[in-house]
Amino acid sequence: MSALRTQVGIVGAGPAGLILSHLLHLEGIDSIVIESQTRKHVEERIRAGVLEQGTVDLLNQAGVGERMRREGLVHRGIELRFNRRGHRIDMHELTGGRAITVYAQHEVVKDLIGARLQAGGQIFFEAAQVEIHDFESERPRIAFQQAGAAYQIACDFIGGCDGFHGICRPAIPAGVLRSYEKVYPFGWLGILAEAAPASRELIYSCHERGFALLSMRTPQISRVYLQCRPDEDLASWPDDRIWEELQRRFETAGGFRLNQGPIIQKGVTAMRSFVAEPMQFGRLFLAGDAAHIVPPTGAKGLNLAAADVRILARAIAVWYRSGAVDLLQRYSEICLRRVWRAQHFSWWMTSMLHRFEGGDGFDYRRQLAELEHVTASRAAATSLAENYTGLPFDLPGECV
Ligand code: APR
Ligand code: PHB
Repeated sequence: MSALRTQVGIVGAGPAGLILSHLLHLEGIDSIVIESQTRKHVEERIRAGVLEQGTVDLLNQAGVGERMRREGLVHRGIELRFNRRGHRIDMHELTGGRAITVYAQHEVVKDLIGARLQAGGQIFFEAAQVEIHDFESERPRIAFQQAGAAYQIACDFIGGCDGFHGICRPAIPAGVLRSYEKVYPFGWLGILAEAAPASRELIYSCHERGFALLSMRTPQISRVYLQCRPDEDLASWPDDRIWEELQRRFETAGGFRLNQGPIIQKGVTAMRSFVAEPMQFGRLFLAGDAAHIVPPTGAKGLNLAAADVRILARAIAVWYRSGAVDLLQRYSEICLRRVWRAQHFSWWMTSMLHRFEGGDGFDYRRQLAELEHVTASRAAATSLAENYTGLPFDLPGECV
């Protein structure tokens, strides 16, 4: 068995684990990342692609924003579409200059892996039988196998950044965590298509047949979603059917048409809201999807992960510098304020835009009334814009 030693052992090379490792490195703190998948898998995994201003600023300040600045698409507004008409929310104007950047999550991951490896950082890909031990003590350990060899890492802290299905959260003894969960009765069927997006900005469309979203990856590649059953069988969705359904859900009185092209990827994502509290037990700190999940409607997943690890890296750095535990002890409480704000916003966007089956149509009429209000009232539109572009990274009490 190989025995290794580091300051922070990080489980998971998603955005949470990689940003944490990089921020710690900038503070002069050593970490090792353990990832169960291959490098290729994590660098190609299709996820969302909307970065809040705070996330963009964080990546830039951390020195990993060069390609994002070049290739990311800055959007100052979004469109809400209902009753066959589009209504632009001018987020930039409503928030006094804030915007979002459309840049795929796996591109962020690629940039971070590149930066970690270039700086001599250690990432173990394809790790099997990953286990965490003794995190109630001052000497936590991570054990795993790679290519048939056994490893043991002794560390001071463990970053549990292994996503919703990881091993860190379940390793916390029963009775410590309280979980809150809401599972939605629908999912998203998402496609990547070689077709120029028919709009420069994202379109969130509420339609009688179900929700649809037009997003993009580049000026040549569209990313489009349609509301479906959570267990939808992709086999019953040949490409023609997908385009036909999408064209109907985006239709306008003015004859809007999506540009169609070869579909290069498709998949179904179920939707849930989930929070585990507290996000810490002993020397184990959960971050990102390991601690909370939001439905993708508000595009907050990656942004929450970045916000968590920003606080965590700072708290760990303060501890190494001065031994002060205050910030570490407040980590969970600080993160959960933002998490619950994002939970509310993501749930609200989801409830306003998706079709709920059954009933007599009351929900749909209520949704239309809400959309009318959000697009007609400056106060309501400002609230949407503030939440969508993201709460500032220095909320009161978060200043670290
Ligand atoms: N051991 C090691 N690594 C693991 C294990 C394990 N037992 N289980 C899971 N992992 C890895 C996954 O393969 C993945 O690479 O942990 C990583 C978790 O990454 P993400 O799921 O991307 O989660 P996170 O880093 O919190 O990113 C935030 O924002 O857009 C949302 O859900 C989306 O991934 C996104 C998230
Ligand atoms: C995406 O581009 O994948 C995307 C955009 C906005 C969302 C969700 C996903 O709300």
